Amino acid sequence: MRIAVCASEGAPYAKSGGLGDVMEALPAALARIEGNEVALFLPYYKKIKENDKYEVQLVSQFQVSLGWRQQYCGLMKLTNRNDGVQVYFIDNEYYFGGRPGAIYGDMDDGERYAYFSRACLDAMVALDYIPDVVQCNDWQTALIPTYLKSVYRAKFPDTRCMYTIHNIEYQGWAHGNFFDDVLGLPWEYRSCLDMNGSVNMMKGAIETADLVTTVSETYARELMYPYYAHGLDGILANAAWKLTGITNGIDTNTFNPEADPALPAHFNADTFQQGKAECKAALQAEVGLPVEPDVPLMVMVTRLAGHKGLDLLCYIARRLLWEEKCQLLILGTGEPQYETFFKDLAAEYPEQCAAKITFNLGLAARIYAGGDIYLMPSKSEPCGLSQMNAMRYGTVPVVHATGGLKDTVPPADENGEGGLGFTFQSYNADDFLASLKRCLNLYNNNRDGFNALVKTDMSQDFSWDVPAGRYMELFQQMISW
Ligand code: GLC
Repeated sequence: MRIAVCASEGAPYAKSGGLGDVMEALPAALARIEGNEVALFLPYYKKIKENDKYEVQLVSQFQVSLGWRQQYCGLMKLTNRNDGVQVYFIDNEYYFGGRPGAIYGDMDDGERYAYFSRACLDAMVALDYIPDVVQCNDWQTALIPTYLKSVYRAKFPDTRCMYTIHNIEYQGWAHGNFFDDVLGLPWEYRSCLDMNGSVNMMKGAIETADLVTTVSETYARELMYPYYAHGLDGILANAAWKLTGITNGIDTNTFNPEADPALPAHFNADTFQQGKAECKAALQAEVGLPVEPDVPLMVMVTRLAGHKGLDLLCYIARRLLWEEKCQLLILGTGEPQYETFFKDLAAEYPEQCAAKITFNLGLAARIYAGGDIYLMPSKSEPCGLSQMNAMRYGTVPVVHATGGLKDTVPPADENGEGGLGFTFQSYNADDFLASLKRCLNLYNNNRDGFNALVKTDMSQDFSWDVPAGRYMELFQQMISW
């Protein structure tokens, strides 16, 4: 099958969050399936352009229409990736190459990604790569299904389109004028994209894609409710017949405690007691906590954003540190009130708490490996990847039972049996504390039970092979229509 994947980020080239990880591993898993041909289209951001590890060749140049605008596109083919995925970068100095700083956050992001979405389709035409299936992701590529159904139908008569929602919070809103000024779509598509007079690109994708997926089964159900759907519950309920949840995997080659070059010691499900103890001691020393092998080390690697459940952690943090002999380590950057809170907490309890307000992938890996307990009390979580990283590295998760956290962390009992971690049902700080205390109790009073749970966590298959197979089933289904 000929597959085109379009996304605004993909590791290792450009990544701001989980989407970047998925766009590294999913195309590769699809390419491993016999008979598939996979191309991945990404913007040619400044930091990719300036990284000489990536060897590229200019293969085509053309103009992209955007309302009254004609914008240049240089199509760059990556020539030194060898896992069967052919990467193409969309080069435009004005929209991507000449912009310093973060990937997103510019005032004209709507126009930048409208350009990108059309440029991907123009690139496929220029390459004469007419795919059976286009898979696109989140609001940044949400215009692709609408363009495919309208302006590009003649060039892609049999191509089917899957749209995947990784996070419904960011929908691609724009002023109503954006429809005529930038998109240049036929008038009859106005209602697809319209929401109360504004343009909502994600809504358009939900309506025009052949199938819609999201990144866990539970999140797919949650999206039927206003609490989770950020205004799109009605639209998704109407499209429920074409909505499927496929739980993400993780890249088990990158996240491998037996080989990860960032770790001071390596281990697997049989050797973790020794290996994790070494990683824990080194980690405590690295972050300036007392090196205490038997004090439970609770860790969190996260964007410091409200929906990650930080309000719950802030509410219970002091009580937790008073009542329990334990250590807490946080790594991440984000909203200033949380950065300040954790810096203050670390200054107040230097023996028990460390806060590293930075983005550091090596330290993140050492935290997954050196921690005992991984905290993820997210308010909502479409899938979540780090709870799976943590389990693969033998760190027991304590999570809010929502979205992908519910699907990947079935609850264990107080002996650590029958599940993979500890969970709480309602989004409430006392319930979070209670589940954390059940986990600490197991660690403190039944270490054999705790270690058996670690072993079970480490023995799970979180690879992309199963989810990639499910994507293929849906691709087949669309093609047969
Ligand atoms: C988004 C979601 C996260 C998910 C990731 C990859 O970042 O917030 O839950 O794991 O996308 O699909």
